[in-house]
Amino acid sequence: DKVTNSDKYRLLSDAAPDELKNLAKQVNASPWRQHYHIQPTTGLLNDPNGFVYYNGQYHLFYQWHPFGPVHGMKYWYHVTSTDLIHWKDEGIGIEPGGQYDSHGAYSGSALAKEGKLYLFYTGNTRDEEWVRHPYQCLAVLDKQGHITKQEVPVIDAPPPGYTAHFRDPKVWKAADRYYAVLGAQRLNQTGCVLIYRSDDLLTWSFIGELETSLADFGYMWECPDYFELGEKGVLLFCPQGLSAEEDRFENIHQAGFLIGEPINPEKPHFQHGSFMELDRGFDFYAAQTTLSPEGKRILIGWMGLPDTTYPTDAHGWAHCLTLPRELTIQDGRLLQRPVKELELLRKEKYTAAHTVQDAKIELEEINGSSYELICELCMEDAEKAGIAFRVGDTEETLLYYDAVSKYLVLDRTRSGAAMKSENGNIRRYAFDAKKIKLRLFVDQSSVEIFINDGEAVMTARLFPAKDSNGVTFFTEGGKATFDAVQWLYS
Ligand code: FRU
Repeated sequence: DKVTNSDKYRLLSDAAPDELKNLAKQVNASPWRQHYHIQPTTGLLNDPNGFVYYNGQYHLFYQWHPFGPVHGMKYWYHVTSTDLIHWKDEGIGIEPGGQYDSHGAYSGSALAKEGKLYLFYTGNTRDEEWVRHPYQCLAVLDKQGHITKQEVPVIDAPPPGYTAHFRDPKVWKAADRYYAVLGAQRLNQTGCVLIYRSDDLLTWSFIGELETSLADFGYMWECPDYFELGEKGVLLFCPQGLSAEEDRFENIHQAGFLIGEPINPEKPHFQHGSFMELDRGFDFYAAQTTLSPEGKRILIGWMGLPDTTYPTDAHGWAHCLTLPRELTIQDGRLLQRPVKELELLRKEKYTAAHTVQDAKIELEEINGSSYELICELCMEDAEKAGIAFRVGDTEETLLYYDAVSKYLVLDRTRSGAAMKSENGNIRRYAFDAKKIKLRLFVDQSSVEIFINDGEAVMTARLFPAKDSNGVTFFTEGGKATFDAVQWLYS
């Protein structure tokens, strides 16, 4: 059925009696509910927002539409954690529906100042003609955990020269001043990032566009994040509308980064290298970072994409967040590793070591649907060698190295319930190696694959049958050895 705008932009207070209770029943019966990923109780989750360490714990919010798997009225939903792994449900963080956020409390970020947490978000509004007017709004969380929305926005319109696609403030502090990057669109329909400054977090002024060498790179840049790491400046953003190339940009929209010299936000010019994707898999977008109390840069992304549908839609919910990853820069490359705290989830341990020659062997030692699998693959003379997981009678997800084309390949063609496949069922990551380190985090309906200690990550939602739990090692055209450790998670 077609969902109308008046359905999509309902508030929770408009819910019919028992509507959410009934929806939750349907959601809880879904076989694809995750065991250790953040997911919505009902409806749709998208971007992580307001990720920050404040007052002794991590706070994390996410974009939430309560009523179903559609993008409509968005709330900020709030969770907290002391270890980045076990999250406490704090309920609704920011409620939309006011004059300046009548059509959603859109994405943004958090910054602590003098004992309070400042939450910056985009108030989305539509007028009678359904024309968009974005406002950059502020809400303040106090030590008692109460969130109060400030009555008027801190930025009430995009600056001249830019369209109403102006959103997703990410705020940081540098040299006793505060700065914000915002995603924007130039009047000529190209994407860019704008920079604002403030002395007190309340009054903001426009500095200018962050000059990059990407003058025509997608029609809109969403969810920017700027930070410094290992003496470099890093800009994350999500350019929309790039065309696919060879083995890059194959998802409907991209999430990636530029590394360069640290910027002077007062004279915003960024000297940077080429745009790289943050994730080489299928389902990843709108990542946001924060600093841990030890100074580690931690990233969480949305394990989903705009303008897509998934099999869980039929069960009244959609999407989850990724596991937290720690970022570092080594020899000019951005590395991403799962945070160490994930070890807290480890329960029983199983191991398997096999040499495989032109065969497919089903492991007796290793299987399941929520686990971590660490595997060292040594190619010997095989043309192809890899792992099939979530294997059932007619299903399997393939991860293999092709020594001829020198690609690591993730293939979800036969993973389970069909996904819309306009964007293909295969993702490839090119590198040349004999020994390959793979670390997989498998949950009920997803996998995150960390390659060679964080040199690349491939993330995918998968929708297999409940009992498709097998794991196999296989090779073609020669021999390879596998050395694997599995940790069951639940
Ligand atoms: C990215 C995005 C943001 C926006 C939010 C709305 O996925 O479109 O630009 O603030 O989602 O939910």
